[in-house]
This record gives sequence, C-alpha cells and structure tokens, in this order.
Amino acid sequence: MKIAITGATSGIGTEKVKALAPLCEQMFLLVRNEKKARDLIHSLPSNQEKISVIYCNLSDLSSVAKAATTLSQKTTQLDVLINNAGGIFPEKSITTDGHELTFCVNHLGHFLLTYLTLPLLTSGKGGKIISVSSEAHKAANIIEEDLELKNDFSSFKAYANVKLYNLLFTKSLAEKFSDKGIEAYALHPGVVNTNFGNQSKGIFKFILFLAKPFMISPKKGAQTGIYLATNQLDQRSNGGYFKKRKLAKATKDASSKKLRNLLWEYSIKQIQPFLGNK
Ligand SMILES: NC(=O)c1ccc[n+]([C@@H]2O[C@H](COP(=O)([O-])OP(=O)(O)OC[C@H]3O[C@@H](n4cnc5c(N)ncnc54)[C@H](OP(=O)(O)O)[C@@H]3O)[C@@H](O)[C@H]2O)c1
Repeated sequence: MKIAITGATSGIGTEKVKALAPLCEQMFLLVRNEKKARDLIHSLPSNQEKISVIYCNLSDLSSVAKAATTLSQKTTQLDVLINNAGGIFPEKSITTDGHELTFCVNHLGHFLLTYLTLPLLTSGKGGKIISVSSEAHKAANIIEEDLELKNDFSSFKAYANVKLYNLLFTKSLAEKFSDKGIEAYALHPGVVNTNFGNQSKGIFKFILFLAKPFMISPKKGAQTGIYLATNQLDQRSNGGYFKKRKLAKATKDASSKKLRNLLWEYSIKQIQPFLGNK
C-alpha cells in the first residue's frame, strides 16, 4: 500500500502514521516542518526507510504544487491520500496568494494537492481520498458570495464552514471520479486532545480548556481514518461522512449539489495559476 498524508507531525496525523507505516510499501509525509517529520520517522520501530518527507505548506499554493510534483517524481501510483492537516486560527489572516488562512489550510491547499495527485490515485486499481472534517460543520453558515469569509470573518464560523467544505469536496470527488476508481470519504475523528485550537483566544479557548479532561486520545481519534484507509468499503458509501467507523448523518447543506458545484467552480478558479499545463 502507498499512502500520502498531510498533518503527520502532530495529533491524529502522527497516530495514523504510526499505525499505517508498518502496512506500507511506501509512505509520504507532506509537512511544513520537515524536522518534526524526520523525528517522527526516527521514532518508529520499523519501516523507516520506506517513508519520505516532502515539504508542503498548505497555506502557500506554490509549495503545494511543488509537493505534488515531488510526489509524482517519487511514485507513479498512490492508494490513499489522507487530507488530515487543519486548524482554527484566532485572527483573520490573508495568505501570500490572497486567501483567508482557514480556508486555504483546511480546504484550498488540499483541493490543489488532491487535484494534482488524481493521476497517481487513478493509475492503479483506484485510490481513496480521505478528508478529516468535523462535527463543527453543523455550525456552518455559507455566504455564497464570500466563500472564504474575507468580508465577514469570525474564527469559529470560518472553521465550521471549511469543515462543511470538506464534506462538499468529498461528495464532488465521488461524483466526478468514481468511474475512474476514486473513493472519497470524510470523517469526524471525535473531540481529541491534540494541539488543535492551542492558539485560540477568548471564549473558544475557555471552552477548549473545560473540554480537555473529556477529550479522547489522539490514538483513539485516529481510528476512523485508519479504518477508512485499510478496509474495503461498500461502494454505496462513496462520498460519505464517517464517525466512529460508521456512516454518519451530516447536515442537509452537506448534500447540496448547488453548494458543492459552487465550491468546486470557485476552487478550480483559484488553483488555475498553479496547474501549469495540466
Ligand atoms: N482535535 C479535535 O478535536 C478535532 C475534531 C474534529 C476535527 N479535527 C481535525 O483533525 C485534523 C487534525 O487535527 P489535530 O487535532 O491532530 O490537530 P493538531 O495536533 O494541531 O495537528 C494539525 C496538523 O496540521 C498541520 N498543519 C497546520 N497548518 C499547516 C500548514 N499550513 N501546512 C501544512 N500542515 C499544516 C500541523 O503541522 P505542524 O505540526 O507543523 O503544526 C499538524 O501536523 C484537522 O483537520 C482538524 O480540523 C480535530
């Protein structure tokens, strides 16, 4: 099995690497902190030589495109891409490419990475794309003319919206590419004790502080992702949202064809400058 994963350097991602590395013929860690990734590899009991580190900063689309090129130089085929990295940010911040940071790290960076990796995922028996969403998508409130919330930013609203985008993207992938062998799944990992939200401020920081003792471990939080990566799933669940290894109910908006097409069209337009001649 050949797996590429983002957000391998902390929390749920690290636990996925630990569990999946022994099953892999090749594994690719797409990370913004290469030292952290190398330290993780050195801590593994086996298969270290089968794991490669590729620099990929999801808030910088040129870096994402470069990472996809490097990945395709290292392998001609991929079984699983795990879009795991993500975060919530306390202040509005605009990336060098002009995108709102929450939108770019949680959605657009992964959209570009996935788009450029599709040839690898479709070159073998077919590939899986697993995206880490959240129950926070239930608080989403999409403004169709301002998908990135550049005009009406609030930290939690931006996060809730992008986690809904993860679900819309997953459905679009299944819809557009299942005939090419693509399976796409989204998941909620649980409420997990990781570095997630550590930069938060105000009420959200206080809620996180109160919730910490009740959170599950990163090892437990990684389980649904590991399950989706390693099991053969019913074709009818393609495009679905999973919790605790089972198909789960998402909001009505998550199934909206209008919203998923809107997001797809918008995202494709944003990544155009990074597609080269693809
Ligand atoms: N924890 C929860 O309760 C919870 C609940 C629902 C969903 N989730 C989702 O689970 C996923 C994993 O989060 P976690 O809880 O494991 O949090 P975490 O410990 O903060 O890990 C986040 C990972 O994303 C990486 N990352 C952040 N910004 C990046 C960027 N610009 N480019 C590349 N990588 C970047 C981080 O890299 P560094 O190590 O370099 O910082 C880290 O590896 C996220 O998508 C999150 O939204 C978490």
